Amino acid sequence: MWDRPPRTAETWQENWASVLPLPGVKAWGAFEDEVMVGIIVYRPYLTEDMAQLDALFVDKDHRQRGIASHLTRLLERQAIADGHTYLYVSATESQSAVGFYTSQGFVPTQDAHPELYALEPNDIHMIKILVN
Ligand SMILES: CC(C)(COP(=O)(O)OP(=O)(O)OC[C@H]1O[C@@H](n2cnc3c(N)ncnc32)[C@H](O)[C@@H]1OP(=O)(O)O)[C@@H](O)C(=O)NCCC(=O)NCCS
Repeated sequence: MWDRPPRTAETWQENWASVLPLPGVKAWGAFEDEVMVGIIVYRPYLTEDMAQLDALFVDKDHRQRGIASHLTRLLERQAIADGHTYLYVSATESQSAVGFYTSQGFVPTQDAHPELYALEPNDIHMIKILVN
C-alpha cells in the first residue's frame, strides 16, 4: 500500500532544490481565481532525447476535472519543441498517479533512469513516446 507522509514546505524545498536551478526547468500552474490548484514541473534533457515530468500535483478538491491532463499537454508541447522523443516520469505507486499516467499513454519501463531509480526505488518508472 502507498503510505508516504504528507509533503511540507521543507520537503518540497529539499526535493526541488537540486532541480529548479537546472537550465530549461519550467513549471506551469492552474489557477482558480488567484489560488493555485495545480502545478506541473518540467525538466528537459534528462538524457539527449528524453525530458522528465518532474512533479505534478492537483489539489484534492479540484481533481478529475481534466486539470492534470491540460498541464501535461502544455509540458509535452514544450518537450516536443525542445526536440525530445520521450518523456519520463517516476510515478508514486498510487492508483491516482499510475491511473493518470497510464491514461496519458505512459507505460512502465524496465529501463529505469539510474539516478531517478536510486532516488525513488519504490516508484513506478514510466515512459511515453511523444507524438507531434
Ligand atoms: C494524479 C493527479 C495529478 C491527477 O490529476 P487530475 O486533475 O485529477 O487528473 P485528470 O482529471 O486530468 O484525469 C485524467 C485521467 O486520469 C485518470 N485518473 C485520474 N485520477 C484517477 C484516479 N484516482 N484513479 C484512476 N485513474 C485516474 C483517468 O483516466 C482520467 O480520465 P477520466 O477523468 O476521463 O476518467 C492527482 O490525482 C494528484 O494530484 N494526485 C496526488 C499527487 C500525485 O500522485 N501526483 C503524481 C505523482 S508522480
